[in-house]
Amino acid sequence: SMNTFIDRLLKQMTVEEKVGQLTLFTSDMDVTGPTLRSTYKEDIQKGRCGAIFNAYSPKYVRQLQDLAVKESRLKIPLLFGYDVIHGHRTIFPIPLGEACTWDLGLLEKTARAAAVEASADGLHWTYSPMVDVAHDPRWGRVAEGVGEDTWLGEQVAKAKVKGYQGDLTKPDQILACVKHFALYGAIQAGRDYNTVDMSRREMFQTYLPPYKAAIDAGAATVMTSFNEVDGIPATANRWLMTDLLRKQWGFKGFVVTDYTAINEMIQHGVGANEYEVGALALKAGVDMDMQGDVYRTQLPKLLADKKITMPELDEAARRVLEAKYKLGLFQDPYKFINDERAAREIMSADKLELARDVARKSIVLLKNEQVLPLKKTGTLALIGPLADNKRDMIGNWSAAGDWQKAVSLREGLQAKLGNGATLLYAKGANITDDKELLTKLNNNGGNLSTDEKSPAQLIDEAVSTAQKADVVVLALGESQGMTGEAASRSDIGIPENQRKLLEAVLATKKPVVLVLMNGRPLTLEWEHEHVPAMLETWFLGTQAGHAIADVLVGDYNPAGKLTMTFPRRVGQIPVYYSAKNTGRPMDPNNKYTSKYLDAPNTPLYPFGYGLSYTTFSYSDINLSSPALTAAGKLQVSVTVKNTGNLAGEEVVQLYSRDLVGSVTRPLKELKGFQKIALKPGESRNVTFTLTEADLRFYDAAMKWTSEPGDFKVFVGTNSQEVKEAGFKLVR
Ligand code: IFM
Repeated sequence: SMNTFIDRLLKQMTVEEKVGQLTLFTSDMDVTGPTLRSTYKEDIQKGRCGAIFNAYSPKYVRQLQDLAVKESRLKIPLLFGYDVIHGHRTIFPIPLGEACTWDLGLLEKTARAAAVEASADGLHWTYSPMVDVAHDPRWGRVAEGVGEDTWLGEQVAKAKVKGYQGDLTKPDQILACVKHFALYGAIQAGRDYNTVDMSRREMFQTYLPPYKAAIDAGAATVMTSFNEVDGIPATANRWLMTDLLRKQWGFKGFVVTDYTAINEMIQHGVGANEYEVGALALKAGVDMDMQGDVYRTQLPKLLADKKITMPELDEAARRVLEAKYKLGLFQDPYKFINDERAAREIMSADKLELARDVARKSIVLLKNEQVLPLKKTGTLALIGPLADNKRDMIGNWSAAGDWQKAVSLREGLQAKLGNGATLLYAKGANITDDKELLTKLNNNGGNLSTDEKSPAQLIDEAVSTAQKADVVVLALGESQGMTGEAASRSDIGIPENQRKLLEAVLATKKPVVLVLMNGRPLTLEWEHEHVPAMLETWFLGTQAGHAIADVLVGDYNPAGKLTMTFPRRVGQIPVYYSAKNTGRPMDPNNKYTSKYLDAPNTPLYPFGYGLSYTTFSYSDINLSSPALTAAGKLQVSVTVKNTGNLAGEEVVQLYSRDLVGSVTRPLKELKGFQKIALKPGESRNVTFTLTEADLRFYDAAMKWTSEPGDFKVFVGTNSQEVKEAGFKLVR
């Protein structure tokens, strides 16, 4: 059995070899941080390193695995990890975009496809899903998560873990790693790596459930977060990593640091040197040191000094060995290395088709005043720095993605229109002309060049191109490097030079469609007021151009719904739908109520928002009973009708509110949704079932329970436009 096998192995291992299993080094393919170790090949041969990341492709992985299983003393196979975040080589939309599909089956499928492709490329382990709930769009890493909602975050976490891991005995499934544990999405002011400070209640109620959902779904590994949790860095936090994660939640896998998080605890100020922070991390329950080289250098000394114990070291090594065992690597270390499978699976036709489908389903129609869908005839002007752009289409954290294989919007539109229409093009602007931003981006491996032409020349060309056209499609937004890790922004609008282009093109009075590409909610108040049609397309991945073209001409009717609020202005942040009422809710006629003097409280686009080329009407809510009992069920039904002229899909959303509680409760909480397809004129009855369990929360005594009393239930097309009804929960 596994236990006897590992017991026997541990008995043979030296301290150095045990510590080796706790050591993860990057290969020289890629790095995200400051350290690069050139001697990792020798480390593998000597058993000083048990896992490698940033190495893929059958040939390269075989070379490294050979070093471990042919040249190391105990022949323990290496574990190969990688950031397979939204697809491996076939890139799907960034996670924040993909979440807007509200299609859990599809989200599982993309994880599954990523696992098939990554495992065919020699990989065993992905650093995904990222399930950090986030309320602050200044934080660049919102691109990698599901957005602001806890319940939706739980559902997506489960779907992703299932998709990646499925049945781990198969060679086309990989280990998932839920990250970043914990609370990374709540960093102050949206500045990456900053401090987190929150109440236990908010932790348990809002931020922890998606990690827990991933673990309940069987996530094999957990990554620590860079931030502190209740004053103690996550990577040294024994309460978090042992009491909560293992004892309370029953997590059985291993915990890996986020990069050099152990070393960084010296800067956090909880240890004076690597010797001290190394002990803190192991004692907390952190098993594997990613790239920091603290465990390798410090644990043997710490053991000799009796600062850590042999059982503690064995426990961590055992967890890592178990993961390798479960993957079947001891039986066949080359199980994931198969050139024929790689050739067949990597960027296969079915994956590209899936990528196109999920991409068009991720698009959110923000506004449409009778401009869209476009006709496939006439003259169309395509303008903007993101229009004829492949590099940015695959988005941030598309590590093994080849941007040159991505379809640009220009290519997608050209393929769609063929000879039926004339497609004109002008670049119009650089992504940004802000020198400081350009320098920062380019110093971090970005590749943002500015055009040889002056900004004024670029705009002139764009204007004369627009004048020749019947309609203008403007592709504006962020470069992929403006979101993701270490890409926080204090101003989240479209860069100023692009705004100037937009103004100049609008002045031609031609109908304009603004196609937005970006990795976070943007502030678009001005654009919303002045532009007749707007599509949010995120960074859609390998098939971006085809997917956007499908939507622009109406071959696919958009149905995406935002999973993160779009504020009007940065000063409103954090603005999210599940806020509290406060003791002085907003009253425009009373100064001493909760509001701004210079802005409304409402966002520009609320959570759950998204339009269609058709329209839907909602009937009033029909409740099966005025009361719900502890063992009973309450049916909440509405009739949704397609009142327009085109077939379309609608995400029907269910929210509830607990009116009186022992602690204050949110104005609304998402409790369910159904995505339905309706033909023109068709109506459908949509029924949700609520039970007492759906109404539980952490009460004043921090007990997970429900409280009898009055509730409201809401059903609607987004979190703000809803029908409402009332019911009682009775005991
Ligand atoms: O997986 C990532 C993590 O999300 C951020 N720091 C680096 C890790 C490995 O590349």
